[in-house]
Amino acid sequence: MIRQLSADIAVQSQCYLAEGPVWDPVARLLRWVDINPGHVHGFNPVTGAHTRFAPAGPDGPAVPRADAVPVGAIGLTIGGGFVLALVDGFAFGPAQPDVSGDYPLTRVDGFRVDASLIRFNDGKPSPWGDFWAGTMPWKEDGPACALYRLTPDGEVTELLRGVGLSNGLDWSDDRRSFYYADSRSGGVDIFASDPATGALGERRRFVTVEDGIPDGLTLDADGCLWLAVFGTGEVRRYTPSGDLDTVIRLPVDQPTSVTFGGDDLSTLYITTARENLTPAEVAAKPHAGDIFACTPGTPGRPPNLFTA
Ligand code: BGC
Ligand code: CA
Repeated sequence: MIRQLSADIAVQSQCYLAEGPVWDPVARLLRWVDINPGHVHGFNPVTGAHTRFAPAGPDGPAVPRADAVPVGAIGLTIGGGFVLALVDGFAFGPAQPDVSGDYPLTRVDGFRVDASLIRFNDGKPSPWGDFWAGTMPWKEDGPACALYRLTPDGEVTELLRGVGLSNGLDWSDDRRSFYYADSRSGGVDIFASDPATGALGERRRFVTVEDGIPDGLTLDADGCLWLAVFGTGEVRRYTPSGDLDTVIRLPVDQPTSVTFGGDDLSTLYITTARENLTPAEVAAKPHAGDIFACTPGTPGRPPNLFTA
């Protein structure tokens, strides 16, 4: 029997492409990005306060804009700031703008991808304290992409090439399995992972997704995988053996990613997108781009932190 759950609207954020949610246990905020307009959002579930800022470009409407600097993903650092995957490379910065509204961003020199063809997409700090993020093509027929690792000393390494559209990623508690969604591959794979170094080994298919697009993902405290299936309106949970055991149905079609949050990590937050919807489709699904929440009964795990 597959358990069916629903989710409530947590934040009416009306994002274009909300992505990369992460619970910040120190600030006690849910943080996420709206990729194309280059916004970083914060939400306090206790007070209901919702903020946003643009770390790398001008702030502006939550639509793709020529003047925006897209942000693919953020990770939390041990110092309380962010590591960012900007459209074409990595950067560091504090968790909020200064009092005058300026955001002091430090770019990592010496590494750029070609932002005319590809951009950074999902990323996360790893259990080893570095930051892993991958790229995706702007267009269907764009070039092959890759998964990269940024170490705290600023060194960037290509971990995996030949990627179609780099998306969700997470590691098992024993650090021996790396779960990875290349959205163009039609499923989620598991790589053997060296628990001491994170080096990737043998790759195998974990689950095949026949309808929709495998997108963002997170493991829960039981080692089950929660997967946003873009295009289906569903978030699905798979047991460690790959069996589907829970489906969360949303009132919007494009869930993009998931993370557990709240002080007890019991709330599953779900980011969604209005990317590529027509005005009529947005009118029919007005909560596309909002953040949803569901309490499925199993908590999540605290986020990994970047150790710089
Ligand atoms: C990307 C979107 C894409 C979606 C489904 C997301 O991670 O940011 O641009 O449409 O995955 O492939
Ligand atoms: Ca994603």
